[in-house]
Amino acid sequence: MLQTVKTPGDTKWFVHDRFGMFIHWGLYALGARHEWLMHAERIPVEEYERRYFKHFDPDLYDPGQWADAAAGAGMKYFVITTKHHEGFCLWDTKLTDYKAPNTPARRDLLQPMVEAFRQRDLRVGFYHSLLDWHHPQYVLDKHFGPYRDHPDREKMNAGRKQANYAKYLYGQTQELLTKFGKIDIMWYDFSFPKPDGSGKGKADWDSEKLYKLVRKLQPKVVLDDRLDLPAGWDVKTPEQIQPRQWPCVDGKPVVWEACQTFSGSWGYHRDEQSWRSSNELIRTLIDCVSKGGNFLLNVGPTGRGELDERALDRLRGIGQWMRLHSRSIYGCTQAPEEVKAPTDTRYTYNPVTNRLYLHIFAWPYKHIHLDGLAGKVEYAQLLNDASEVGLGMDEWHGKQVAHGEKTLTIVLPQVKPNVEVPVVELFLK
Ligand code: GLC
Repeated sequence: MLQTVKTPGDTKWFVHDRFGMFIHWGLYALGARHEWLMHAERIPVEEYERRYFKHFDPDLYDPGQWADAAAGAGMKYFVITTKHHEGFCLWDTKLTDYKAPNTPARRDLLQPMVEAFRQRDLRVGFYHSLLDWHHPQYVLDKHFGPYRDHPDREKMNAGRKQANYAKYLYGQTQELLTKFGKIDIMWYDFSFPKPDGSGKGKADWDSEKLYKLVRKLQPKVVLDDRLDLPAGWDVKTPEQIQPRQWPCVDGKPVVWEACQTFSGSWGYHRDEQSWRSSNELIRTLIDCVSKGGNFLLNVGPTGRGELDERALDRLRGIGQWMRLHSRSIYGCTQAPEEVKAPTDTRYTYNPVTNRLYLHIFAWPYKHIHLDGLAGKVEYAQLLNDASEVGLGMDEWHGKQVAHGEKTLTIVLPQVKPNVEVPVVELFLK
């Protein structure tokens, strides 16, 4: 089995739990057309405030319902955008007025969320944007933000000092990691250093200092890899792409987590029609675990504070599958090197129970041939109903296929079990 590089944070629970909920919630929920709309439409700060800050009133907000939806889907942790690139803060920070208590919401929205998820035994993660298109000290660069190509951008930078903004980041981190109890994940987003110095990276965020603060306040927190530091982080975070194989850094496998959306944008998007089905998302979760990774699936709640019906539908679908199949997800990882999954399948493996899980993405005619497993399986069953799966072919069938000596053939029922992705549980000897 692959061993990942050792890092300072506590990733033991993380690689066991495998499945979490990402939540992107901020003022952009009102625009309802992507969390980057301030950038995309070049909306000036005052205009953004006038439209969205003044009208943010999530009157139906009930984080208990969000937490129920996450727990029901089998998720074990959540990561919430405490602040996204727009600069708006969900909690009652002392360091800016641009925060939920000063909107019509009139309260800290983060604290009750943390409590609700904890009550249901989900671990707590904070996403925090390094970019800030609202803060008066944040230096306007040519890459991102509403003023990136504004003719007066340089003039507007007079009086701004990135070092002051870095202090703000430091202060906010201090609040987030001291006011909400134990934090399990800290998820900064993102760095964009450029060779000509026009981007932003570790010097602009004072990443080293931030890093030390994080480890001082929450030494075991699982930290993501976007602070532009070569080491010290715990988890690699590919987004909107599924890795082909277990991701490596300097040739060594690392702890990793894919973060993905239902439909493309992270914040609530009313008109996006490109929603993935529960089936596709279940397969994505399986795919992550089959390569030793986690899956962080994003929801974008509405401006009234509810999860979108489309999201609830997908989460219920995933939950139905997880109720019967979570045994092939929790505590599981990539299968031992010598067993290679047949076409249209994925393996996961639980090293503690020594069971291998065959996830069948396309139901076969009758048999599946498992290379490398002859003589190694003691018993096999379908996971959804614990019904026995036959091992080995009868002689008559066997004569008709080229059947290597190391190959074990399993015999499946003609009718696919009525679950999104059937799983065969293989008890190894
Ligand atoms: C990004 C985007 C973003 C999203 C994030 C999630 O880099 O800026 O909007 O929050 O990735 O991974």
